[in-house]
Amino acid sequence: MAKTYMIGNWKMNQSLDEITEFFSSIKGKTTKEGNFWIAPQLIHIDRCLNLAQESNIKIGSQNVSNQDNGAFTGETAAVNLKEMGAHFSLIGHSERRAYNFETDEFINQKAKKLLENGMVAVICAGETLEQREAGKTLEVVLNQFKSALSEIEIKNEDQIILAYEPVWAIGTGKTASPEQAEEVHAAIRNLLKELYPALGEKLSILYGGSVKPTNVAELLAMPNINGGLVGGASIKAESFATLCNA
Ligand code: PGA
Repeated sequence: MAKTYMIGNWKMNQSLDEITEFFSSIKGKTTKEGNFWIAPQLIHIDRCLNLAQESNIKIGSQNVSNQDNGAFTGETAAVNLKEMGAHFSLIGHSERRAYNFETDEFINQKAKKLLENGMVAVICAGETLEQREAGKTLEVVLNQFKSALSEIEIKNEDQIILAYEPVWAIGTGKTASPEQAEEVHAAIRNLLKELYPALGEKLSILYGGSVKPTNVAELLAMPNINGGLVGGASIKAESFATLCNA
């Protein structure tokens, strides 16, 4: 069985005061066993690691470089994220694909850097509305994941996590229906079983795109949805705790 995760992607949000408030008010609120992770802005990782010490929340990054070190102004190396204590990094998020022109090849290189440095790669993929309406959802999503995982060997199911995030559902309030999401998740599961026969069933596939306390239970009820990657509804402790406890 795949493990369940609830990962908050704070994007470019949260002040230091809001972060302090989040960690103080989430204490004792996540009652279930599970993997609860937060990706704050890069400059807040250290502070979050300190504040999260008394909780069961792990901290990671929203981005990582595809290079080891050197003249790459503004970039952050996996080795340095790791030494700071970051547990994982998101890669392939549609916002980075769209606004930073990240290609599949680039995302594959980032995945390799994370694994080489003992960090978890949370790999995102998803179709646009136009692609969905053209009947290309499965083709687009599977190709994005295939490229991201190209030449990647894993030894256990904790090294990579996949997140299906339809672009039209991110930050729009429009969630994929549980059935729409499950159709894609089942296809991703088949791909994982092909690529990693011994681990395919155990790898976690998260859904992202307007996950909120009111729809999380029905999404998690689907056989191949193993958790959520959550933006807006992860910002407030109350709401994130509700998602973790679902
Ligand atoms: P959202 O964002 O929950 O605000 O739709 C999800 C994401 O972009 O990871």
